[in-house]
Amino acid sequence: MLDFKCTRCGSPLDVKVDFSFDQSGIRPRDYSLWRYGSFFPYVNENDIITLGEGWTPLVKLNDSLYFKLENLNPTGSFKDRGSTALISAIHNQVKKQGGYISEDSSGNAGASIAAYAARAQLKAKIYVPENASGSKINQIKSYGVPVTKVAGTRNQVAQKAQQPEKRKHYIGHIYHPLFRDGIRTLAYEIAEQLNWKSPQRIYLPVSAGTLLLGVIRGFKHLANSGIIDAMPTITACQTRQVSPLYHRIKKLNYKPPERITSIADALVSSNPPLLDLMIKAIQETHGDAEIVDENEILNAFTELAHKGFFVEPSSAVAYAAHQKQLKTKKISKADKTVIVLTGHGLKTTLRPVS
Ligand SMILES: Cc1ncc(COP(=O)(O)O)c(C=O)c1O
Repeated sequence: MLDFKCTRCGSPLDVKVDFSFDQSGIRPRDYSLWRYGSFFPYVNENDIITLGEGWTPLVKLNDSLYFKLENLNPTGSFKDRGSTALISAIHNQVKKQGGYISEDSSGNAGASIAAYAARAQLKAKIYVPENASGSKINQIKSYGVPVTKVAGTRNQVAQKAQQPEKRKHYIGHIYHPLFRDGIRTLAYEIAEQLNWKSPQRIYLPVSAGTLLLGVIRGFKHLANSGIIDAMPTITACQTRQVSPLYHRIKKLNYKPPERITSIADALVSSNPPLLDLMIKAIQETHGDAEIVDENEILNAFTELAHKGFFVEPSSAVAYAAHQKQLKTKKISKADKTVIVLTGHGLKTTLRPVS
Protein backbone atom coordinates (compact mmCIF):
# COMPACT_ATOMS: atom_id res chain seq x y z
CA MET A 1 0.00 0.00 0.00
CA LEU A 2 2.93 2.38 0.63
CA ASP A 3 4.64 1.80 -2.74
CA PHE A 4 4.17 4.62 -5.23
CA LYS A 5 6.15 3.41 -8.24
CA CYS A 6 7.13 0.12 -9.81
CA THR A 7 10.18 -1.22 -7.95
CA ARG A 8 11.52 -2.71 -11.23
CA CYS A 9 10.98 -0.03 -13.92
CA GLY A 10 10.14 3.06 -11.83
CA SER A 11 6.91 3.90 -13.70
CA PRO A 12 3.88 5.19 -11.78
CA LEU A 13 1.60 2.56 -10.25
CA ASP A 14 -2.12 2.54 -10.91
CA VAL A 15 -5.23 1.13 -9.23
CA LYS A 16 -7.17 -1.39 -11.29
CA VAL A 17 -10.93 -0.85 -10.98
CA ASP A 18 -12.02 -4.32 -12.10
CA PHE A 19 -15.62 -4.41 -10.87
CA SER A 20 -18.82 -2.76 -12.11
CA PHE A 21 -20.35 0.34 -10.56
CA ASP A 22 -23.65 -0.75 -9.03
CA GLN A 23 -25.95 1.95 -7.59
CA SER A 24 -27.09 -0.45 -4.85
CA GLY A 25 -23.59 -0.09 -3.36
CA ILE A 26 -24.16 3.61 -2.53
CA ARG A 27 -24.63 4.49 1.16
CA PRO A 28 -27.53 6.94 0.68
CA ARG A 29 -27.43 8.46 4.18
CA ASP A 30 -23.75 9.31 3.94
CA TYR A 31 -23.44 12.87 2.63
CA SER A 32 -19.70 12.71 2.09
CA LEU A 33 -17.76 11.02 -0.70
CA TRP A 34 -17.74 7.90 1.49
CA ARG A 35 -21.28 7.28 0.22
CA TYR A 36 -19.23 5.54 -2.54
CA GLY A 37 -17.03 3.75 0.03
CA SER A 38 -17.96 0.29 -1.24
CA PHE A 39 -16.23 1.15 -4.53
CA PHE A 40 -12.94 1.55 -2.61
CA PRO A 41 -12.40 -2.03 -1.45
CA TYR A 42 -8.85 -1.31 -0.30
CA VAL A 43 -10.15 0.94 2.50
CA ASN A 44 -11.52 -0.81 5.56
CA GLU A 45 -14.64 1.04 6.78
CA ASN A 46 -13.28 1.27 10.34
CA ASP A 47 -10.08 2.90 9.11
CA ILE A 48 -11.71 5.81 7.26
CA ILE A 49 -10.18 9.19 8.12
CA THR A 50 -12.76 11.79 7.18
CA LEU A 51 -13.40 15.51 7.62
CA GLY A 52 -16.74 15.30 5.79
CA GLU A 53 -15.25 15.85 2.32
CA GLY A 54 -17.13 15.46 -0.96
CA TRP A 55 -20.82 15.64 -1.88
CA THR A 56 -20.09 19.27 -2.75
CA PRO A 57 -22.85 21.38 -4.33
CA LEU A 58 -23.43 21.33 -8.07
CA VAL A 59 -24.87 24.78 -8.69
CA LYS A 60 -26.88 25.52 -11.81
CA LEU A 61 -25.92 28.86 -13.34
CA ASN A 62 -28.27 28.75 -16.31
CA ASP A 63 -30.09 26.15 -18.42
CA SER A 64 -26.92 24.36 -19.44
CA LEU A 65 -24.05 25.51 -17.20
CA TYR A 66 -23.18 24.12 -13.75
CA PHE A 67 -20.39 24.83 -11.28
CA LYS A 68 -19.11 22.00 -9.07
CA LEU A 69 -18.00 23.72 -5.87
CA GLU A 70 -14.90 21.77 -4.93
CA ASN A 71 -13.64 24.89 -3.14
CA LEU A 72 -16.10 23.99 -0.37
CA ASN A 73 -14.23 20.87 0.68
CA PRO A 74 -12.88 20.89 4.29
CA THR A 75 -9.45 22.30 3.44
CA GLY A 76 -10.72 24.44 0.57
CA SER A 77 -9.84 22.30 -2.45
CA PHE A 78 -10.66 19.11 -4.38
CA LYS A 79 -7.46 17.57 -3.00
CA ASP A 80 -9.39 16.33 0.04
CA ARG A 81 -10.85 13.56 -2.14
CA GLY A 82 -7.38 12.17 -2.72
CA SER A 83 -6.18 12.74 0.83
CA THR A 84 -9.08 10.95 2.50
CA ALA A 85 -8.59 7.87 0.27
CA LEU A 86 -4.81 7.80 0.65
CA ILE A 87 -4.55 8.54 4.37
CA SER A 88 -7.42 6.16 5.22
CA ALA A 89 -5.61 3.36 3.37
CA ILE A 90 -2.14 3.85 4.87
CA HIS A 91 -2.29 5.49 8.31
CA ASN A 92 -2.31 2.28 10.34
CA GLN A 93 0.62 0.79 8.44
CA VAL A 94 2.76 3.94 8.85
CA LYS A 95 1.92 4.21 12.55
CA LYS A 96 2.69 0.53 13.17
CA GLN A 97 6.15 1.09 11.71
CA GLY A 98 6.65 4.16 13.93
CA GLY A 99 7.04 6.27 10.79
CA TYR A 100 5.96 9.61 9.36
CA ILE A 101 4.78 10.65 5.89
CA SER A 102 6.39 13.09 3.52
CA GLU A 103 4.63 14.99 0.72
CA ASP A 104 5.57 17.67 -1.82
CA SER A 105 3.06 20.21 -3.03
CA SER A 106 2.56 23.67 -4.48
CA GLY A 107 0.28 24.30 -1.48
CA ASN A 108 -3.23 22.86 -1.67
CA ALA A 109 -2.31 19.18 -1.61
CA GLY A 110 0.14 19.88 1.22
CA ALA A 111 -2.60 21.61 3.22
CA SER A 112 -4.97 18.75 2.54
CA ILE A 113 -2.53 15.95 3.42
CA ALA A 114 -1.55 17.90 6.56
CA ALA A 115 -5.19 18.15 7.68
CA TYR A 116 -5.89 14.44 7.17
CA ALA A 117 -2.61 13.52 8.87
CA ALA A 118 -3.70 15.66 11.84
CA ARG A 119 -7.11 13.96 11.86
CA ALA A 120 -5.36 10.56 11.85
CA GLN A 121 -2.80 11.67 14.46
CA LEU A 122 -0.10 10.75 11.98
CA LYS A 123 3.24 12.61 11.80
CA ALA A 124 3.90 14.41 8.50
CA LYS A 125 6.39 16.73 6.76
CA ILE A 126 5.42 18.86 3.76
CA TYR A 127 7.91 20.18 1.16
CA VAL A 128 6.83 23.22 -0.86
CA PRO A 129 8.40 25.40 -3.58
CA GLU A 130 10.07 28.55 -2.32
CA ASN A 131 7.33 30.73 -3.84
CA ALA A 132 4.33 28.77 -2.47
CA SER A 133 1.48 31.05 -1.37
CA GLY A 134 1.80 32.34 2.21
CA SER A 135 -1.80 31.52 3.09
CA LYS A 136 -1.32 27.86 2.10
CA ILE A 137 1.89 27.62 4.13
CA ASN A 138 0.05 29.11 7.12
CA GLN A 139 -2.71 26.57 6.63
CA ILE A 140 -0.26 23.62 6.63
CA LYS A 141 1.54 24.93 9.74
CA SER A 142 -1.77 25.53 11.51
CA TYR A 143 -2.51 21.80 11.28
CA GLY A 144 0.68 21.35 13.31
CA VAL A 145 2.71 20.03 10.37
CA PRO A 146 6.23 21.35 9.59
CA VAL A 147 6.92 22.91 6.19
CA THR A 148 10.24 22.78 4.33
CA LYS A 149 10.72 25.33 1.52
CA VAL A 150 12.82 24.08 -1.40
CA ALA A 151 14.50 26.30 -4.02
CA GLY A 152 14.41 25.23 -7.67
CA THR A 153 11.90 23.58 -9.97
CA ARG A 154 8.76 21.73 -8.92
CA ASN A 155 10.56 18.43 -9.69
CA GLN A 156 13.43 19.41 -7.38
CA VAL A 157 10.89 19.88 -4.57
CA ALA A 158 9.63 16.34 -5.24
CA GLN A 159 13.19 14.94 -5.21
CA LYS A 160 13.87 16.55 -1.84
CA ALA A 161 10.65 15.08 -0.38
CA GLN A 162 11.65 11.64 -1.69
CA GLN A 163 15.19 11.70 -0.25
CA PRO A 164 15.39 8.61 1.99
CA GLU A 165 15.43 9.30 5.71
CA LYS A 166 14.89 7.05 8.69
CA ARG A 167 11.16 6.33 9.33
CA LYS A 168 10.13 8.50 6.37
CA HIS A 169 7.43 7.19 4.01
CA TYR A 170 7.09 9.27 0.86
CA ILE A 171 3.43 9.37 -0.17
CA GLY A 172 3.62 12.27 -2.68
CA HIS A 173 0.14 12.93 -4.04
CA ILE A 174 1.32 13.21 -7.66
CA TYR A 175 2.87 9.76 -7.65
CA HIS A 176 0.75 7.82 -5.21
CA PRO A 177 -2.00 5.96 -7.11
CA LEU A 178 -4.45 5.97 -4.18
CA PHE A 179 -4.54 9.78 -4.13
CA ARG A 180 -5.74 10.15 -7.72
CA ASP A 181 -7.99 7.13 -7.28
CA GLY A 182 -9.93 9.02 -4.57
CA ILE A 183 -10.73 11.67 -7.15
CA ARG A 184 -12.90 9.30 -9.19
CA THR A 185 -15.65 10.11 -6.62
CA LEU A 186 -15.93 13.53 -8.26
CA ALA A 187 -17.25 11.88 -11.45
CA TYR A 188 -19.68 9.71 -9.46
CA GLU A 189 -21.06 12.80 -7.71
CA ILE A 190 -21.50 14.85 -10.88
CA ALA A 191 -23.35 11.96 -12.53
CA GLU A 192 -25.54 11.30 -9.47
CA GLN A 193 -26.33 15.01 -9.00
CA LEU A 194 -27.43 15.12 -12.66
CA ASN A 195 -29.69 12.12 -12.08
CA TRP A 196 -27.22 9.67 -13.60
CA LYS A 197 -26.90 11.59 -16.84
CA SER A 198 -23.48 12.60 -18.01
CA PRO A 199 -22.94 16.27 -18.93
CA GLN A 200 -21.71 16.83 -22.50
CA ARG A 201 -18.66 18.79 -21.39
CA ILE A 202 -16.43 19.17 -18.35
CA TYR A 203 -13.79 21.88 -17.90
CA LEU A 204 -11.09 21.50 -15.27
CA PRO A 205 -7.69 23.06 -14.56
CA VAL A 206 -4.66 20.78 -15.04
CA SER A 207 -1.18 20.90 -13.57
CA ALA A 208 0.19 17.53 -12.36
CA GLY A 209 -2.87 15.72 -13.70
CA THR A 210 -4.32 13.99 -10.63
CA LEU A 211 -7.68 15.75 -11.04
CA LEU A 212 -7.89 15.04 -14.77
CA LEU A 213 -6.90 11.37 -14.43
CA GLY A 214 -9.23 10.80 -11.47
CA VAL A 215 -12.23 12.36 -13.19
CA ILE A 216 -11.64 10.49 -16.46
CA ARG A 217 -11.30 7.23 -14.55
CA GLY A 218 -14.58 7.82 -12.67
CA PHE A 219 -16.56 8.59 -15.83
CA LYS A 220 -14.99 5.63 -17.64
CA HIS A 221 -16.04 3.39 -14.77
CA LEU A 222 -19.63 4.66 -15.02
CA ALA A 223 -19.69 4.33 -18.83
CA ASN A 224 -18.17 0.83 -18.81
CA SER A 225 -20.71 -0.21 -16.16
CA GLY A 226 -23.61 1.04 -18.31
CA ILE A 227 -24.63 3.71 -15.76
CA ILE A 228 -24.17 6.62 -18.19
CA ASP A 229 -24.73 6.50 -21.96
CA ALA A 230 -21.58 8.31 -23.06
CA MET A 231 -18.39 9.89 -21.76
CA PRO A 232 -18.44 13.69 -21.44
CA THR A 233 -15.86 15.60 -23.47
CA ILE A 234 -13.32 16.56 -20.82
CA THR A 235 -11.25 19.67 -21.55
CA ALA A 236 -7.92 20.03 -19.74
CA CYS A 237 -7.37 23.76 -19.11
CA GLN A 238 -3.89 25.22 -18.69
CA THR A 239 -2.16 28.58 -18.45
CA ARG A 240 -0.07 29.61 -21.46
CA GLN A 241 3.02 29.57 -19.20
CA VAL A 242 2.47 26.04 -17.89
CA SER A 243 0.92 24.09 -20.75
CA PRO A 244 2.93 20.93 -21.53
CA LEU A 245 -0.24 18.87 -21.93
CA TYR A 246 -1.93 21.34 -24.28
CA HIS A 247 1.18 21.49 -26.46
CA ARG A 248 1.53 17.68 -26.67
CA ILE A 249 -2.19 17.25 -27.51
CA LYS A 250 -1.96 19.92 -30.22
CA LYS A 251 1.40 18.51 -31.43
CA LEU A 252 3.23 21.79 -30.79
CA ASN A 253 6.63 22.42 -29.22
CA TYR A 254 6.59 23.59 -25.61
CA LYS A 255 9.35 25.56 -23.94
CA PRO A 256 8.66 26.09 -20.23
CA PRO A 257 9.43 29.58 -18.88
CA GLU A 258 12.52 30.00 -16.72
CA ARG A 259 10.35 31.40 -13.95
CA ILE A 260 6.60 30.89 -13.60
CA THR A 261 4.89 34.18 -12.81
CA SER A 262 1.25 33.27 -13.56
CA ILE A 263 -1.47 34.40 -11.13
CA ALA A 264 -2.65 30.78 -11.32
CA ASP A 265 -0.01 29.88 -8.75
CA ALA A 266 -1.22 26.32 -8.11
CA LEU A 267 -0.61 25.29 -11.73
CA VAL A 268 3.17 24.92 -11.77
CA SER A 269 3.94 21.44 -13.18
CA SER A 270 5.80 22.38 -16.35
CA ASN A 271 7.28 18.87 -16.66
CA PRO A 272 4.64 16.62 -15.06
CA PRO A 273 5.63 13.00 -14.42
CA LEU A 274 2.11 11.82 -15.34
CA LEU A 275 2.13 13.53 -18.75
CA ASP A 276 2.13 10.30 -20.80
CA LEU A 277 -0.75 8.91 -18.74
CA MET A 278 -2.71 12.15 -19.27
CA ILE A 279 -2.16 12.12 -23.04
CA LYS A 280 -3.27 8.49 -23.26
CA ALA A 281 -6.37 9.12 -21.12
CA ILE A 282 -7.42 12.21 -23.11
CA GLN A 283 -6.89 10.52 -26.47
CA GLU A 284 -8.73 7.34 -25.45
CA THR A 285 -11.75 9.30 -24.25
CA HIS A 286 -11.76 11.94 -27.05
CA GLY A 287 -11.04 14.77 -24.65
CA ASP A 288 -9.52 18.14 -25.49
CA ALA A 289 -7.12 20.78 -24.13
CA GLU A 290 -7.20 24.58 -24.04
CA ILE A 291 -4.86 27.35 -22.91
CA VAL A 292 -5.59 30.80 -21.58
CA ASP A 293 -3.60 34.00 -21.13
CA GLU A 294 -3.09 35.94 -17.91
CA ASN A 295 -5.66 38.63 -18.77
CA GLU A 296 -8.25 35.91 -19.51
CA ILE A 297 -7.57 34.30 -16.12
CA LEU A 298 -7.89 37.63 -14.30
CA ASN A 299 -11.14 38.44 -16.13
CA ALA A 300 -12.54 34.99 -15.34
CA PHE A 301 -11.52 35.29 -11.66
CA THR A 302 -13.26 38.68 -11.43
CA GLU A 303 -16.34 37.58 -13.36
CA LEU A 304 -16.78 34.49 -11.16
CA ALA A 305 -16.43 36.57 -7.99
CA HIS A 306 -18.94 39.10 -9.34
CA LYS A 307 -21.38 36.21 -9.70
CA GLY A 308 -20.68 35.22 -6.05
CA PHE A 309 -18.16 32.42 -6.70
CA PHE A 310 -14.92 33.32 -4.94
CA VAL A 311 -12.26 30.88 -6.15
CA GLU A 312 -8.51 30.74 -6.65
CA PRO A 313 -7.16 32.18 -9.90
CA SER A 314 -5.98 28.63 -10.69
CA SER A 315 -9.62 27.50 -10.59
CA ALA A 316 -10.71 30.44 -12.76
CA VAL A 317 -8.51 28.98 -15.53
CA ALA A 318 -11.27 26.44 -16.31
CA TYR A 319 -13.95 29.13 -16.57
CA ALA A 320 -11.60 31.27 -18.70
CA ALA A 321 -11.08 28.34 -21.10
CA HIS A 322 -14.84 27.75 -21.32
CA GLN A 323 -15.49 31.42 -22.06
CA LYS A 324 -12.75 31.41 -24.70
CA GLN A 325 -14.24 28.39 -26.48
CA LEU A 326 -17.70 29.98 -26.38
CA LYS A 327 -16.33 33.19 -27.89
CA THR A 328 -14.50 31.34 -30.66
CA LYS A 329 -17.66 29.24 -31.25
CA LYS A 330 -15.75 26.02 -30.67
CA ILE A 331 -18.61 24.96 -28.42
CA SER A 332 -22.26 25.87 -28.12
CA LYS A 333 -23.96 27.64 -25.19
CA ALA A 334 -26.56 24.86 -25.27
CA ASP A 335 -24.02 22.10 -24.40
CA LYS A 336 -24.69 20.80 -20.91
CA THR A 337 -21.43 21.74 -19.18
CA VAL A 338 -19.87 21.36 -15.73
CA ILE A 339 -16.96 23.57 -14.69
CA VAL A 340 -15.01 22.29 -11.70
CA LEU A 341 -14.17 25.14 -9.30
CA THR A 342 -11.20 23.55 -7.59
CA GLY A 343 -9.94 25.87 -4.83
CA HIS A 344 -11.20 28.54 -2.42
CA GLY A 345 -10.67 32.25 -3.12
CA LEU A 346 -9.69 32.87 0.52
CA LYS A 347 -6.36 31.21 -0.28
CA THR A 348 -5.39 33.80 -2.86
CA THR A 349 -3.28 36.88 -2.25
CA LEU A 350 -4.60 38.50 -5.44
CA ARG A 351 -6.18 41.91 -4.83
CA PRO A 352 -9.61 42.63 -6.34
CA VAL A 353 -9.69 44.74 -9.49
CA SER A 354 -11.53 47.89 -8.52
C1 LIG B 1 -6.76 24.90 -6.97
C2 LIG B 1 -6.15 23.89 -7.88
N1 LIG B 1 -6.75 23.64 -9.06
C3 LIG B 1 -6.24 22.74 -9.92
C4 LIG B 1 -5.08 22.05 -9.65
C5 LIG B 1 -4.53 21.09 -10.65
O1 LIG B 1 -4.61 19.77 -10.20
P1 LIG B 1 -3.59 18.67 -10.70
O2 LIG B 1 -2.24 19.04 -10.17
O3 LIG B 1 -4.13 17.42 -10.16
O4 LIG B 1 -3.60 18.73 -12.19
C6 LIG B 1 -4.41 22.30 -8.44
C7 LIG B 1 -3.15 21.58 -8.12
O5 LIG B 1 -2.40 21.95 -7.26
C8 LIG B 1 -4.97 23.22 -7.52
O6 LIG B 1 -4.39 23.47 -6.34
